[in-house]
Amino acid sequence: MPGIAIIGTQWGDEGKGRIVDLLSSRVDIVVRFQGGNNAGHTVVKGNDQFKLHLIPSGILYPGVTCVIGNGVVLNPEVLIEELDSLESKGISTDNLRISCNAHLVMPYHIILDKAGEHRLGKSKIGTTHKGIGPVYADKALRSGIRTQDLQDLKIFRTKLEEALKLNNAIIEKIYGLEPLDPDEIFNKYKQYGKRIERYIVDATFLISKALDKNKRVLFEGAQGTMLDIDHGTYPYVTSSSTIAGGICVGAGVGPGRLDEIIGVVKAYTTRVGSGPFPAEEDGRIGQYLREKGYEYGTTTGRPRRCGWLDAVILKYSIMVNTIDSVAITKLDVLSGLKEIKICTGYKYEGKVYRDMPCHQTILHKCQPIYEEYEGWDEDISRVKNFEDLPKQAQNYIKNIEKIIKVPISMVSVGAERSKIIIRDNNLKSRLFNQSRRSTLIV
Ligand code: GDP
Ligand code: IMO
Ligand code: MG
Repeated sequence: MPGIAIIGTQWGDEGKGRIVDLLSSRVDIVVRFQGGNNAGHTVVKGNDQFKLHLIPSGILYPGVTCVIGNGVVLNPEVLIEELDSLESKGISTDNLRISCNAHLVMPYHIILDKAGEHRLGKSKIGTTHKGIGPVYADKALRSGIRTQDLQDLKIFRTKLEEALKLNNAIIEKIYGLEPLDPDEIFNKYKQYGKRIERYIVDATFLISKALDKNKRVLFEGAQGTMLDIDHGTYPYVTSSSTIAGGICVGAGVGPGRLDEIIGVVKAYTTRVGSGPFPAEEDGRIGQYLREKGYEYGTTTGRPRRCGWLDAVILKYSIMVNTIDSVAITKLDVLSGLKEIKICTGYKYEGKVYRDMPCHQTILHKCQPIYEEYEGWDEDISRVKNFEDLPKQAQNYIKNIEKIIKVPISMVSVGAERSKIIIRDNNLKSRLFNQSRRSTLIV
């Protein structure tokens, strides 16, 4: 059972970092395979809170190798800040490895991202302004610069100058902004290269060899299925493949290597940025969820839009990711609500849709159809066994299982490591029944 995926099933911020942190104690390697520092994964360890943007959440465990795969887009400045911050808290980063094929976020990507959003005005995507769209666009255009180019500065310089010819023209002529100075970028990236060179490896071989040896590899998704470039709410998505299939491309492993796919879902729904959100609650309930769940972006600090759990979306995510079981987070946030709703369909122009509609207009304009459940008042944050949850909370979980037809394997009732209800029987890998592996493979 060596290849396990943790995938967001909504619009990101489901609590993937929290679940990866929990499972990291049971695995040998944790791999990020897509996205960049648009991601913000919060892990709470004792009194410390870690906000990880690029480094896999497994880094907090000394025996775990953490890999930034080829599908990740890497801003070296942000990576170095993250390395410094972890090291200042006594966390060793010696076990980090970075793919030689990961693309670099360059300063012009960030400028183009911000300027592009500004140009769109009211139609903006609401990106994180981290340069993600432009860097993936350059990758597809075959004009990207990769981490391995930092190891050959002559090539780096040539590629940088070539890239600036076009990008400076756009920056100046389209957006009326100051062009970038190649020397300044070159000197900065030369320094970054010196600092991160020791981490750069052929990550594809590293991961494949580990799987050959039956080591346990956890693939940590960033963003969520509804932000997937192909399967999400395009164009209000990110620019990478956030679904489980993205692991094959972004880490260099075949689909057969994925033995278990765990979907992470928040007990309600949140979204940052623009785009359709049928079960959104912009009144009292939305406010309640935002304040009680502290729903503010980990990366940008923006208030997250909040709403009820949307089972149409969850079922769709289960389908496109082939999810084996679901980890539900933030159930504690729902304590105190008299009534809890689950969106089970959309109504549009007299027609009812129980499955994800193909046409985006429907998502924008539909009326959500809800099933209503009785809430509970009890503080559940110390509950360890499913049977000890209030009956109404148990019912909520069981009803979700009934709707999605997939078992719920974990119920998180707090941000801290210990605040989890494990239903190991629902995990294919039965990870919690097995002893921890701690042999480093590199
Ligand atoms: P990610 O991007 O999917 O890793 O999620 P984020 O870290 O951006 O957002 C999830 C937030 O919820 C973080 O602040 C977590 O510490 C917090 N969190 C995770 N699980 C729980 C839970 O079960 N209960 C509560 N109250 N907070 C949680
Ligand atoms: P984690 O990994 C929530 C959203 C942005 C915007 C859209 C495109 O923490 O779940 P981008 O900067 O990627 O071009 O922005 O995607 N977005 C996220 N929303 N969580 C994230 O990551 C996100 N990463 C990007 O808000 O709507
Ligand atoms: Mg997040």
